[in-house]
Amino acid sequence: MKILAIETSCDETSAAVLNLERGQFNLLSNIVSSQVKIHAKFGGVVPEVAARMQMEMILPVIDESLIAANIKLKNIDYLAVTYGPGLITSLTVGVETAKSLAFALKKTLIPTNHLAGHLLANFLPNKKITDIKFPALGLIVSGGHTLLVLMKNESNYKIIGETLDDAVGEAFDKVAKILNLGYPGGPIISKLANNGNSVAFNFPRPMLNSGDLNFSFSGLKTAVFYTLKHKNIKTLKQKEINDVCASFQVACVDVLTIKTLRALQIHQPNSFLLGGGVAANPTLRQRLQEQINKNFPKIKIFIPELRFTGDNAGMIAAAGYFQVKKSKFANFKKLKANPNLSL
Ligand code: KG4
Ligand code: ZN
Repeated sequence: MKILAIETSCDETSAAVLNLERGQFNLLSNIVSSQVKIHAKFGGVVPEVAARMQMEMILPVIDESLIAANIKLKNIDYLAVTYGPGLITSLTVGVETAKSLAFALKKTLIPTNHLAGHLLANFLPNKKITDIKFPALGLIVSGGHTLLVLMKNESNYKIIGETLDDAVGEAFDKVAKILNLGYPGGPIISKLANNGNSVAFNFPRPMLNSGDLNFSFSGLKTAVFYTLKHKNIKTLKQKEINDVCASFQVACVDVLTIKTLRALQIHQPNSFLLGGGVAANPTLRQRLQEQINKNFPKIKIFIPELRFTGDNAGMIAAAGYFQVKKSKFANFKKLKANPNLSL
């Protein structure tokens, strides 16, 4: 079974071809065209600009994914597309392109959830479909979401914890903005944090004792703001910037790790799956690995390769596959992008 997947939920245009043979995935191509440099000038994603770039890039990116996979469009068995959540303007480009392809090729189109994609990225590039044992606990950390998810199987999800305000990636981006570091903030902060002292500033660990599995990152961002309020950011010493980054990052990692351990304790799953752009953060990856191994040695940990943490169509192909299995696809002619789609 060969799936061509399209992902255009935000500022990345991506297309991938995933093959499934004898129960094993094989990612044949995964092309990602990023608009990050364009949006960096504006300090964040500008939806109209993103949609225009999506339109320019979508066909070349699909073409490149087919060439890289060495496959002709007519030999694709299924199409999969992200239909939410994300920016409506960006999503629509992918959805309408996929509908046109499904119409012209007379192929089944699988509407796919972006968030499910982030978790199922753990099957890439070539896991067997039986490699991940369920039930599993998923932690999605991205620019728009911070979710703890109980997964009965690959397509059955229950949200058991979520952020009450900002997503963790959003907090990284906003703190980077306060520090005048550029966009997106996550990669810059995690790099500077390497040379910083993580106990230099004692930032709060919000919601740690809330008694539930929810998160809040807005107050943490505000704490950084007030710490620096009376200082001129332009004259801050590099050492001080690095220390703020390291102290902010460790506060985020502490909360994410402790709540994850609590969820594992309550639900005792077989596996743990990490996903989303913030999953690229080395401190988060290392801490989760170390703490889960120490406290729950029987739980198998899945952390995606760096190239599968950010938005990419490979993960949509994997998620699409499990939707085929569930054989629950909509009539593609009626399919519409849904910016607020939940898991
Ligand atoms: O999953 P993603 O690519 O897009 C969404 O679905 O939102 O996540 C993007 C987010 C951005 O907020 C970005 O700053 C963050 O992931 N990010 C990181 C790192 N790399 C990307 N955050 C922390 N550390 C990183 N190394
Ligand atoms: Zn994403």
